[in-house]
Amino acid sequence: MSHTILITGASGYLGGTLLAQWTQTSLPAYKRLFALVRSDEQATLVKRHFGAVAEPLQFDTKDGVAVREAVVANQISIVYFLVDAMTADAQVHFIRALAEVKQSTGLDVHFLHTSGAKIFSSHAGAPTDRPLLDTEADLYEIQKAQEAPIPLMQSAVNTNNTVIEQAESLGVHSYIFVPCIVYGRGEGFGNRISIQTVAIVRAARALRRVYSVDSGRPSWPVCHVLDNTSLYLALLRGILSSSSPNGSGNATGTQPPGSGKHGYYLASSGHVVWEDLYAAMGTRLAQRGMVDGDPTAAGAVERATDEVLGKMGAALGCPKELVALHLGGRCTFTARHGAEDLAWQPAYPANHILQTAGEEVDLILDNLSG
Ligand SMILES: NC(=O)c1ccc[n+]([C@@H]2O[C@H](COP(=O)([O-])OP(=O)(O)OC[C@H]3O[C@@H](n4cnc5c(N)ncnc54)[C@H](OP(=O)(O)O)[C@@H]3O)[C@@H](O)[C@H]2O)c1
Repeated sequence: MSHTILITGASGYLGGTLLAQWTQTSLPAYKRLFALVRSDEQATLVKRHFGAVAEPLQFDTKDGVAVREAVVANQISIVYFLVDAMTADAQVHFIRALAEVKQSTGLDVHFLHTSGAKIFSSHAGAPTDRPLLDTEADLYEIQKAQEAPIPLMQSAVNTNNTVIEQAESLGVHSYIFVPCIVYGRGEGFGNRISIQTVAIVRAARALRRVYSVDSGRPSWPVCHVLDNTSLYLALLRGILSSSSPNGSGNATGTQPPGSGKHGYYLASSGHVVWEDLYAAMGTRLAQRGMVDGDPTAAGAVERATDEVLGKMGAALGCPKELVALHLGGRCTFTARHGAEDLAWQPAYPANHILQTAGEEVDLILDNLSG
């Protein structure tokens, strides 16, 4: 009996692209793939677009009984969670259910939690005075010690820790997968656009100008959506190929990917300075008549005043204190693990996001509602 896999967030930007790429890649043998959706319409779309590889499944991730029923009944042994980086309730339901599958079938079980680079940044009290590698031996201890200046971010930090601790206590392999500024056209049937690049456009449109929200020139890791997806798949390949043909143990001689306290994977090809990204995206917004002036001119990207932050917050639907959380901050988190453990190599260098910022703006404007 080999692995049965569940992908959550199938209608989302990352999950949809993962499913789309699944159809184009070769993976070691597994038994079945399920894609979690929340409506009949989405289930139909999964069948229509990805019916060759995936079967839709519907249940409420916040309902522990429903999660247990779905995971145990289908003997799901690998869960990719791409739904919520901020709270741990659903993740704990999945981890408990996976432990039950392990007990009843003897299969090795795996839980991948999708976190986010914000949780390894200044917004969450992570160290930013040096490159913070995703392979650092004491990264778990570093996260445990983080005191986030924003309560919501403390909850997200605690979520990573809870996943690792719960999984370890129940014999489940866990992975903390960390997307950063992801960009590029999503390939799924649902959401096609990312989060942070959208915030830059929303705020700039409202103010008719791009503003910096930080002192200095802090940078942030970036990743094309196809590279983010190829790391998800490389990790899965690593999990599947280190399992024995019956899905349990490590009878293949292949080294299993690091997991638990050593299971952090940042998907990133490098860092870009926020200000350079604002200017690059602002250039297309100016060409489309949505911001005034030339955002690339010297000194054109000014620091937002308190009043401007208030207006940016209104455009983003958040208080001015949280604007920087959406489109700024300092993050020195640096990807090593994918390359070292999984031979993952991103295809797009970091400055590709600057070179294609115009296309990203066009994509966002074509897909933004309101
Ligand atoms: N995109 C990025 O740049 C980025 C960066 C860092 C971290 N992340 C994290 O990665 C995860 C996926 O991001 P994304 O960009 O793919 O987001 P997205 O496009 O908004 O997709 C979110 C997915 O989660 C599903 N979902 C939301 N609440 C759910 C619930 N209670 N039960 C079941 N499914 C639920 C959505 O279903 P519906 O379509 O039915 O709403 C959708 O499929 C998120 O946790 C996000 O914070 C993303």
